[in-house]
Amino acid sequence: MTDCRICAGPLTEFLDLGAQPNSDAFPRPGETDGEFFFRLAVGRCGSCTMVQLMEEVPRERMFRRDYPYHSSGSSVMREHFENTARQLLATEATGTDPFVVEIGCNDGVMLATVSDAGVRHLGVDPSQGVADQARAKGVRVRTAFFEEATALDIAATEGRADVVYAANTLCHIPYLDSIFRGLDALLKPDGAFVFEDPYLGDIVERTSFDQIYDEHFYFFTARSVQTMARRYGLELVDVVRLPVHGGEVRYTLARPGARVPTAAVAALLADEDSKALAAPATLERFAAEVRRTRDDLTALLTQLRAEGHRVVAYGATAKSATVANYCGIGPELVSVVYDTTPAKQGRLTPGSHIPIQPSEAFSEPYPDYALLLAWNHAEEIMSKEREFRAMGGKWILYTPKVRVL
Ligand code: SAM
Ligand code: TMP
Ligand code: ZN
Repeated sequence: MTDCRICAGPLTEFLDLGAQPNSDAFPRPGETDGEFFFRLAVGRCGSCTMVQLMEEVPRERMFRRDYPYHSSGSSVMREHFENTARQLLATEATGTDPFVVEIGCNDGVMLATVSDAGVRHLGVDPSQGVADQARAKGVRVRTAFFEEATALDIAATEGRADVVYAANTLCHIPYLDSIFRGLDALLKPDGAFVFEDPYLGDIVERTSFDQIYDEHFYFFTARSVQTMARRYGLELVDVVRLPVHGGEVRYTLARPGARVPTAAVAALLADEDSKALAAPATLERFAAEVRRTRDDLTALLTQLRAEGHRVVAYGATAKSATVANYCGIGPELVSVVYDTTPAKQGRLTPGSHIPIQPSEAFSEPYPDYALLLAWNHAEEIMSKEREFRAMGGKWILYTPKVRVL
């Protein structure tokens, strides 16, 4: 049996998504031999309720020089992080010579605004390519994994931070004991650790099982974060639900007694209790819904192909690796995936080997059906591609249920 990475309690597996590749490793045609696979399964800790992967993928496999995810690729996310930076500057970086640290700064989408405001900052990100893009925006970056040693070094050389921020990164890091020891050294006594990640409540409600993939190790709730924070000597003092990436929560942690927890914390905890969010029965029901989505989606795609329709997909997201490989969707069901990311174009989807082409080719000519794999950017993409539906094309969505639009 596997133990909880936070508290060493017993993990009970509730969903097995089978053999899965690295979600962000897009092989070139003809170079699919030796592709890495691991068993993607999720469990719940019987002691602290933390939901987490049963198997860990080595971090160097995922966060490499050519890590292809570029945060600035979505206009919605650019605006989200600009607003986030403004808010952090207004509420956390208020003293004299404040210092803002970001874990997983990627291409500088958030810190560029902090840098433009002339505020002292440092991003930490192990992926060289995106880190260089951040530097090109005037952002200071250390190309490194944030962990205890990195934090100690930053505190020693640059001083303590008013706020440490992480978006879509903390849930990627299994070794949180090291992270929190580092935070203890790095944060000023009244400093805050603010992080936002996909919320288990939204995943269960929307059956968005594709939020589960190699990079997403933890699936947080207010309750599991509160328990975890206490274990590491911090207190959960605020939560904010965010609409981005299919539903997230922004958590603020501070040292005990430093801040009064907001009413939003008690409200979200009560909401989770009333829904029995992380109860074994709820997670078993979620797993059954996932299996139904798989069956419905493969049945629909098989039928459309049998009827002779041209079916493509849109958005070679990391999360779509889970959908394609779990549901067995390959080039025989979906002929091509369109995506705006140059580093993904001309390559194949991980494990499922569907060719990826630039999204400009989507209209040449429009297909009959397009499976929207980047459903978290649905509004942005459907508005950009409104001509597709005007020409009679149909979108296929699979969350919360399989449906044709
Ligand atoms: N914060 C950005 C956003 O929300 O769009 C980027 C999110 S991206 C999904 C995760 C980032 O975390 C990657 O750029 C990766 O290189 C970085 N990362 C992974 N492990 C890390 C660690 N231990 N310390 C710092 N960054 C890490
Ligand atoms: P994400 O779900 O991890 O944010 O990844 C989004 C993927 O979708 C990324 O590969 C870029 C792609 N994409 C498009 O092709 N067109 C778009 O308009 C948007 C917003 C994303
Ligand atoms: Zn635990």
